Amino acid sequence: MRIGVVVGSVRKGRRGESVAAWVADAAKQREGVEVSIVDLAEFGVPILDAETLPMLAGKSYEDAGTQAWSDAIDECDAYVFVTPEYNHGVPGAFKNAVDSLGPEWVGKTVAFVSYGADGGVRATEQWRQIMVNFQMYDVRGFVALGLFSDFDESGFAPLERRTGELEAMLDQLTSLTEKLAA
Ligand SMILES: Cc1cc2nc3c(=O)[nH]c(=O)nc-3n(C[C@H](O)[C@H](O)[C@H](O)COP(=O)(O)O)c2cc1C
Repeated sequence: MRIGVVVGSVRKGRRGESVAAWVADAAKQREGVEVSIVDLAEFGVPILDAETLPMLAGKSYEDAGTQAWSDAIDECDAYVFVTPEYNHGVPGAFKNAVDSLGPEWVGKTVAFVSYGADGGVRATEQWRQIMVNFQMYDVRGFVALGLFSDFDESGFAPLERRTGELEAMLDQLTSLTEKLAA
């Protein structure tokens, strides 16, 4: 299976890149798992203004950035969303990019690694509500990284227990993805 680790922040100096590398390194250790880091910042997905609804676009888009984003998402079987929390919710650029696609997401599995002052859990809980509209399957396991506990002046420094939380989440994600494929 291919897991897409999606970096959901496009901000200069973002924390999400190092978090995504940590998730990808752990996922790559698993037998039968291939990993893509899908970095939203690389695609330049524009604000959704296409007349055709993404769900009806047949995975074909006029905008080149959206098409590249679609191709990268489409080739994955499962996702880990690495998401910050912005103003108690999901980041706007990430939501716009998710809205810009349709069938690429449908029926797939997803797990969440969030970060924020309180672990970014409000963003994760909002994502769970959004994902259901794509008939996506989320797992209970999650990682919530605290800005004041899992980062220091040198950058990302996760607490020891985060490794176990990440592994438990990946166990659930891979197991659910295998079950659905069967
Ligand atoms: C627009 C904006 C809104 C934010 N709102 C929240 C928030 O509601 N809760 C929170 O815990 N952190 C909030 N933060 C702080 C972020 O958690 C912190 O800046 C984090 O590093 C953002 O992720 P990024 O660096 O990957 O972009 C906000 C940051 C930005 C830029």
